[in-house]
Amino acid sequence: MTSVESESDLCFNPLDPASYREPYARLAEIRRRCPVSEALPGHFFVATDGDARQVLLDFNTFSNAGNFQLDHPDGEVDPPTIVQLDPPRHNLFRRLVAAGLNPRAVRAAEPFVRETARQLVEKVQSDGRGDLMAFLAQPLPSEVIAHLIGVPAEHAPDFTRWTAEITSTVPRSFHHLQSWADFKAFIDRLIAERRADPSPPDDIVTRLLQAEEEGTRLDDGEIRMAIFQFIVAGNDTATRLIGNVVHELLRTRELWERVAADRSLIPTAIDESLRHDSPIQWVMRRCTTEAAIHGVKVEPGQRVLVGIGSANRDETVWADPDSFSLDRADVVDKHLAMGSGRHYCLGAPLGRLEARVALEALMDLLPSLALAEGFEIEFVESAMMRGPKRLDVVWEATRG
Ligand code: HEM
Repeated sequence: MTSVESESDLCFNPLDPASYREPYARLAEIRRRCPVSEALPGHFFVATDGDARQVLLDFNTFSNAGNFQLDHPDGEVDPPTIVQLDPPRHNLFRRLVAAGLNPRAVRAAEPFVRETARQLVEKVQSDGRGDLMAFLAQPLPSEVIAHLIGVPAEHAPDFTRWTAEITSTVPRSFHHLQSWADFKAFIDRLIAERRADPSPPDDIVTRLLQAEEEGTRLDDGEIRMAIFQFIVAGNDTATRLIGNVVHELLRTRELWERVAADRSLIPTAIDESLRHDSPIQWVMRRCTTEAAIHGVKVEPGQRVLVGIGSANRDETVWADPDSFSLDRADVVDKHLAMGSGRHYCLGAPLGRLEARVALEALMDLLPSLALAEGFEIEFVESAMMRGPKRLDVVWEATRG
């Protein structure tokens, strides 16, 4: 971890790699000395748990317009996605997407998740070494999303590739990327095929197509963005969560042994990882009316960057916040890694399920798993996301 060396380190500039590469020492200093700071002109970074909650919960004062997008403050190129919508439009989108992610839908998906994780691990069982991001953390969420939107698993590698390129580009605009053009073409084909299907399956895509409320239907642009958001939101975050939790457990081998011996600790390990290394480090809001956060005045139109990764290390909330501990009894209810309020993550049960099943498959099939000798973690080069670029691991090779 780097140390804070100068006054200029007291600002979190979301576009400066020096701010996000090794962020935690700098964020601790920022929380202590200037918890609300103007990170870029007209953009306020909020670093503490209490201030982050104030912003996330007050959706009248802090709108979601332009969330995840720094450089299109006015007039979007595409219709907004669900995380960029405010009520009342947000209510309709949320109901539609939630139907595909509710506890019943997630329970129904569990056998598929389990079987997919088992196959992915079995495929490498006799290799004795590999990059866990490539053989499990990336393909598992992609294959699960493909399954949930009813497309063959052969599209999953495209989802992984498109999503990784797009999420490493946000909060800058990604509309010039080939990945975005390919993604759009794929979704438009999917919509056209579904429209032509006389008995379409009961899933998220069909529900979005059939949705009608108070006489209005979603137009094709809105449906495209809803499917896009669903694929992107469900892919990268879960990949990073799996990478982060496996890395922390293996880094201190006793933790891995402890969880392997008592699997009831898996949910705590997952939520402690979400807290300790939040896959989404900050989200954005736009101020709608004059407001004050921690005594700092914010004007209408100005933007607020809500530092959920920083809030999750707030020392006034968490004892010894930089340590990864399996003994935080209340970790699930207290962290902000999945957001809070109206936009609370709709995929939280699915993301947690994927991480749990991934850990169980590894503990069952590769019990001797360890970090490769000399492995040093490098995080993905991204302003908003946090997770390993690769995770080199070894194990005792066995025949699958
Ligand atoms: C596993 C790790 C995950 C993390 C850390 C995570 C994090 C988040 C966060 C922080 C938000 C709130 C954004 C905001 O307030 O601006 C959010 C919203 C959302 N997430 Fe997740 N997510 C995860 C997994 C998933 C999965 C697996 C899916 C779907 C398959 C998903 C779908 C969504 C959707 C649709 C929203 C928008 C909800 C709304 O705006 O009402 N997420 N997520």
